[in-house]
Amino acid sequence: MKILQVKDQQAGGRAGYEVFAEAVKNGAQVFGLATGSTPISIYDELKASDLDFSDKISINLDEYKGLPGTHEQSYRYFMNEHLFNAKPFKESYVPDGMADTETETKRYEGIIDANPIDLQILGLGQNGHIGFNEPGTPFDSLTHEVTLTESTIEANARFFENENEVPRYAYSMGIGSIMKAKQILLVAYGAAKADAVAAMIEGPVTEEMPASILQKHANVTVIIDEAAGAKLT
Ligand code: F6R
Repeated sequence: MKILQVKDQQAGGRAGYEVFAEAVKNGAQVFGLATGSTPISIYDELKASDLDFSDKISINLDEYKGLPGTHEQSYRYFMNEHLFNAKPFKESYVPDGMADTETETKRYEGIIDANPIDLQILGLGQNGHIGFNEPGTPFDSLTHEVTLTESTIEANARFFENENEVPRYAYSMGIGSIMKAKQILLVAYGAAKADAVAAMIEGPVTEEMPASILQKHANVTVIIDEAAGAKLT
C-alpha cells in the first residue's frame, strides 16, 4: 500500500485528483466511484480540471433500495449534484434502487465484469466498512442486497419527511466486486477514522475489518490526513 498523508481534506482533494489524472494518462477507461463526504473534495478538483470523462464509464459502489434516482437522498442524485452534471461520463452506472433484488444484483455484477474497473475510489466507515459491506461480510461477496443497521436507519431518518420513506435496504458491490478493480484509492479523514485506518493497514486481514482485505490487493493508494493516521505505528 502506498500511503499519502495530507494536511486536510482540501489537500486530499488535490492528491486524489493527481491519482485520477495519472490513471487517465495511463489509459484508464472505467472509474469506480463512491458517495459520502470524503470524495467531495476530489470531485471538486475533477470538476475544476480540464480532464474529460465524456468517453469514459463510471460505476458507483452502492444505492439505497426503494429510492428512485430523482430522490434527493439517492446516491444517483448525489452523484449528479457533486460530479456528473458538471463532468458527464459516457455512461454512469449506479444500482437501480427501484429494481428487484435478484435482477439488479446480477445485472450490476454483470456490468462490473463487462467493464473492468481501472480505478476504484473508496471511503472508509468508522467500523472499517467499504461500500455498504459491514463487518462480517464475506470477502468473496459480489453485488448484493444489504440490510441497513438500526443506527444507520435512525441516522438517516432526519433526511426524510416520512419515516416510511427511510430506506431499510441497499444494493452494494461486494468486497469481491471491489477487489476486482485494477487500482484502488481509499481516502479517510478525521480522528473518528483513526482506529479503522490503523486496523486496515496494520491489523490482521479479517472479515471483521472489511477494509483489511486491501492488504491483499496489489495496487492500493491510501490518502489520509494527520488525524486519520494518528494511530498508525
Ligand atoms: C459511499 C460508501 C461508504 C462511505 C463511507 C464513508 O458510497 O459506500 O462506504 O464511503 O461510509 O463515508 P463518509 O465519506 O461520509 O465518511
